[in-house]
Amino acid sequence: MASGKHGNGSVSNSGKSNWTKKELLARSVKHIDITKFDARPVIDGYRQMAFSARTLAQAADIYSMMLKDTQCGVILTLAGSMVSAGLKKALITLVEHNMVDAIVSTGANIVDQDFFEGLGFKHAIAPGSPEAPPVDDVTLRNLMIDRIYDTYIDEDDLRACDDVTYKIFNAFAPGAYSSREFIEAMGAYLLKNHPKNESLVKTCFEKRVPIFCPAFSDCSAGFGIVLHQTEKLERGEECVAFDSGKDFRELTDVKLACRDTGLLMLGGGVPKNFAQDIVVAAELLNERKGGKARGDIGMHKYAIQMTVADSRDGALSGSTLREACSWGKVDVVHEQMVFGEIASLFPILASDAYHRKAWKARKARGGFKFADLFEPTPGAPRYAARPRGGAKLKPSAKAKSR
Ligand SMILES: NC(=O)c1ccc[n+]([C@@H]2O[C@H](COP(=O)([O-])OP(=O)(O)OC[C@H]3O[C@@H](n4cnc5c(N)ncnc54)[C@H](O)[C@@H]3O)[C@@H](O)[C@H]2O)c1
Repeated sequence: MASGKHGNGSVSNSGKSNWTKKELLARSVKHIDITKFDARPVIDGYRQMAFSARTLAQAADIYSMMLKDTQCGVILTLAGSMVSAGLKKALITLVEHNMVDAIVSTGANIVDQDFFEGLGFKHAIAPGSPEAPPVDDVTLRNLMIDRIYDTYIDEDDLRACDDVTYKIFNAFAPGAYSSREFIEAMGAYLLKNHPKNESLVKTCFEKRVPIFCPAFSDCSAGFGIVLHQTEKLERGEECVAFDSGKDFRELTDVKLACRDTGLLMLGGGVPKNFAQDIVVAAELLNERKGGKARGDIGMHKYAIQMTVADSRDGALSGSTLREACSWGKVDVVHEQMVFGEIASLFPILASDAYHRKAWKARKARGGFKFADLFEPTPGAPRYAARPRGGAKLKPSAKAKSR
């Protein structure tokens, strides 16, 4: 079997063997630019068609409706591997044009993939195909190359990324912080040390769009926190910790601060449920102050989910938005599930929304940014300069917040 220099006998479609790590990682994933093509005619055509074409058009219409509604806070949720798939630039475009007000994501998208690229590392297009790979997965492991279906990552680079998260955690005073606070520190780090690299984390820091990763340990940041805590505990010192409860409280503050909310959900998983649940958390807090258990707090007024998950297994990822209505989380008036693979579908929806320009009116929100809802926690690092686009919180919004 072992015919190659790295002990690998697999041969690619082209007949090449003896792949080096450099060759395997030679072609970088390029991020699609949704401003460079106008998907409106595609969506207009899809609207007259059937199946996923029509549901995608309906979802695009709901997204434009959400953006036209200047009272509506738009929450984007991310699962799966959206950034490594080439959607980073599209997501940045949405944030830059006020088309997203808060993000709930897996740590994989935010840290392992976006922050990773913000540091200057790349994802690579795997040669061949997953069905006919040039090298097998044992060879990849020996070469320190990780695989996400048809994408390769240099594990040495990921470890360098883990190490930066560890250094960022070290800069916090001992205590518990929300993931949003750590991710802001990552954005500040990128702005200071890698200002030219494109990154969603960096753009959100500048645009005052908070990012929440409720399962923050389950990514590169998890390795950083393990290193940080182990070292501190060995020295008998106090350490920092992730406060997932605070994440939930802060995101609930977002719901309480704006009357209407809309969800744009890419994939399912923890971010989908977490973002939906803030309606119930807001109701509980409202009830605590003497309000009604149901009815005072609006459900999410708009909701779109793209997924390949099946609804018939009863699991969260594929559960329909109508099902979420029974839980009091999502209204059924403007909701659309789109069943399909997101890397191919989302750029069409995003380009359509970008070119229809409903976002232009959203500037009228007065520059209110959700990240400014939160007072800096004592012990968190201070940033030298106020991020670009940062605006003072509207008093009315702050009054509604707890
Ligand atoms: N994705 C990774 O490569 C990766 C890497 C490191 C850590 N993690 C961690 O694993 C945990 C679970 O991740 P997850 O929630 O992304 O789980 P997941 O990958 O199972 O995604 C959740 C659901 O989203 C949908 N989905 C994902 N990608 C899709 C696509 N391209 N098209 C259509 N639907 C899609 C699927 O229905 C899936 O069931 C997270 O804590 C994450 O940080 C993930």
